[in-house]
Amino acid sequence: MKETINRLRSQGAVLIEAADTPALVEAARVSLLGRKGEITSLLRGLKDVDPQDRPALGADLNLLKTELAALLDERSSALAVGQGSSSGVELDLSLPGKPPVGTGTTHPLLSVMESVCDIFYGMGFTRSDGPEVELDYYNFTALNFPDDHPARDIQDTFYINDQVCLRTQTSPVQVRTMERTEPPLASIFPGRVYRNENADASHSSEFFQIEGLVVDKAISMADLKDTVDTFVRLFFGAAEPTRFRPHFFPFTEPSVEVDMQCVACRGAGCGICGQTGWLEIMGAGMVHPNVFKAVGYPDDAYTGFAFGMGIDRIAMLKYGIGDIRLLYENDLRFLNQFRGVL
Ligand code: PHE
Repeated sequence: MKETINRLRSQGAVLIEAADTPALVEAARVSLLGRKGEITSLLRGLKDVDPQDRPALGADLNLLKTELAALLDERSSALAVGQGSSSGVELDLSLPGKPPVGTGTTHPLLSVMESVCDIFYGMGFTRSDGPEVELDYYNFTALNFPDDHPARDIQDTFYINDQVCLRTQTSPVQVRTMERTEPPLASIFPGRVYRNENADASHSSEFFQIEGLVVDKAISMADLKDTVDTFVRLFFGAAEPTRFRPHFFPFTEPSVEVDMQCVACRGAGCGICGQTGWLEIMGAGMVHPNVFKAVGYPDDAYTGFAFGMGIDRIAMLKYGIGDIRLLYENDLRFLNQFRGVL
């Protein structure tokens, strides 16, 4: 009988452990401790045991009963807590939650991009997007870059084949938009661009630009200047003076580079502005007549301005980021500084 008791002890524990629904726990209880169960019949059989062994065996049987009953109770209360979870996984809804760790947040570049877009939406601009893998025609030809002209080398292009490249600027979206839109139009084109450059503190082979284009009757450079000044005021939060410097782009005439007074030294001259007191923030100009021709706009009916600026650059200026690579390395120690700030 001693052996039977030991067998029941281990078999019972296994049976209870395996019972993963309240009904199975109940079935185990009946088979182990019920009136027709083995323990009951062993207890009944005690009277036929040698009277010398009877007290020890009786005590052991009672102990087994209590142990199994405790195991059964434990099992059914564990299952009761897990109720509502069909997988049978134990789940205590009353426990305090684990604090979230490592939740994502918007990347600072995307936040800056969105806030720049919002400023232009506020001025009545709409938005269009174009492909990053672009036809050479849109990236260069339609933008008045002559074939074999050295201007194509200004921007070191990643070519996919003779006709297809990674866009080096967001300007091709000007062409795509004008091809399908009659003036008047005021649109921005944000997006990623690529240039075959070696990375250093101020260059990256991929970066972000936002392009703006306004076309209507009698649009002038004064409209461009006012748009730029409004943007600078709203984005940098202060009315920093801006200036236009003559420049060259094939798709604008006249062309300018736009500088704003250095945000760090307010024009006095410092390391950030190379002692000039000015920071270049974008390229711009009046849309070249050849671009209007390429998109089929009638001669002389419209004028327009366009500008293109580097999102990385203005983000770096606004937040005092000294190295563009920080924006692409996804180092959480850097990124977490912007959490909840932008
Ligand atoms: N696409 C030019 C660049 O990437 C910027 C630009 C855009 C200049 C629109 C003039 C007008 O450098």
